[in-house]
Amino acid sequence: MEKINSLRGMSDILSPEVYVWQYIENTASKLFEERGYREVRTPILEETTLFRHSIGEGTDIVNKEMYTFIDKGDRSVTLRPEGTASIARAFIEHNLGSRNELAKLYYIGPMFRYERPQKGRSRQFHQIGVEAIGPSDANTDAGLVFMMAKFLEKIGLKSFKIKLGSLGCNNDKKKFAEGLRRYLLPEKSRLCDDCKVRLEKNVLRTLDCKVESCKILLRNSPKAKDFLCDNCKEHYQRVKDRLRDYTPVGVEFIEDDHMVRGLDYYTGTIFEVTHPALGAQDAIAAGGRYDNLIENFGGKPTPAIGFAVGMERLIMAFPAEEKIRLEEEKQLKLYIVTTGSASYTRADSEIEKLRDQGIYCEINYGSDKPVKWQMDRAGKKNAKFVAIFGDEELKNDEVVLRNMKTGEQKNVKITDLAKAVKNA
Ligand code: HAM
Repeated sequence: MEKINSLRGMSDILSPEVYVWQYIENTASKLFEERGYREVRTPILEETTLFRHSIGEGTDIVNKEMYTFIDKGDRSVTLRPEGTASIARAFIEHNLGSRNELAKLYYIGPMFRYERPQKGRSRQFHQIGVEAIGPSDANTDAGLVFMMAKFLEKIGLKSFKIKLGSLGCNNDKKKFAEGLRRYLLPEKSRLCDDCKVRLEKNVLRTLDCKVESCKILLRNSPKAKDFLCDNCKEHYQRVKDRLRDYTPVGVEFIEDDHMVRGLDYYTGTIFEVTHPALGAQDAIAAGGRYDNLIENFGGKPTPAIGFAVGMERLIMAFPAEEKIRLEEEKQLKLYIVTTGSASYTRADSEIEKLRDQGIYCEINYGSDKPVKWQMDRAGKKNAKFVAIFGDEELKNDEVVLRNMKTGEQKNVKITDLAKAVKNA
């Protein structure tokens, strides 16, 4: 049989890289849980209509990028391209709104988009997402952006930029779309074929177009902020004021009037985080309000806001020194070398006690390998220490502890072994 590799745009995550994944995921869970957010694990496969009706017909995700197929029950199903639609579905299905006035939820997992793979863009990628469902006030928006910034800082990320904007309510968005259509209609012949269709079906999506001539045409197009009603203007102003209020120096952000986001469900506050380490695909995280989504899915009118961080991109910007620290944390602390069957039996009964005290240690199972072979093995495994369970030393309940980096050796009581390794 021919060699089989993973599918294009889908990667295995191996150690030591996986340590970074574990660290980021654990840091996220801890930070969110401390603030009352609870994890939700939704299925990876959902009915196709869920995404069509939320992300929107006419978006690149729905039009070009979904992994959609007919299952054995003749249903159209789709591998989730994002998490928000599933969370909204689960919120309604399990009546999560009735338990709390505010449902604070987070999720971590793979998403699928059939995009052209390149640096920072894969077909199976992973998101850490957060959704706050219930409140509509500006404090919630600012609090969520603050929590996102805090998470990125905690991971050790430096020089990220938060871009902020507002799309306004549904009415404002409609007016914005009309304004944009009026602006583009006389230029229709200069638009790319996709944008000609977008102009008729979903004009706001012309703003996502990557074709240079369309981008130039859109540079001076009307902006969402020109169409905000008084309420939306005030809400947006309060979000900005609150962000500046955060102690000690506020949350830094820049206003970006060109930001639209590539999903239809957004209304009101929207934001994106970029990082210079990323190149063309520079958005590490993004989110915003989606006040109508739950109602559109048949739930009670329930405002909501959330964001998702792209794991692969976050890892590209992850500090190198932190990566080294994580690798060191996972380093084999102690390799146990035995000198015969009595020594092996003794070592084998001590090893679990050492592990119970938090020492990562290994032993070569069986007592038949020469000491030199075992020492080589310890070196290959990059063990920090070796403990030699020599027959002479064992008579005094001692072992020889060798620091593999310095070569220094000393006798240590077995009962003190864990302490000696920990304190080194
Ligand atoms: P999104 O902007 O489509 O928003 O994706 C969020 C993040 O996922 C992006 O900023 C990026 O870091 C990462 N991402 C997206 N596509 C790819 C890809 N092909 N390869 C690698 N990373 C990628 C959403 O998905 C919304 N559900 C966010 C949200 C949550 N809004 C409200 N709540």
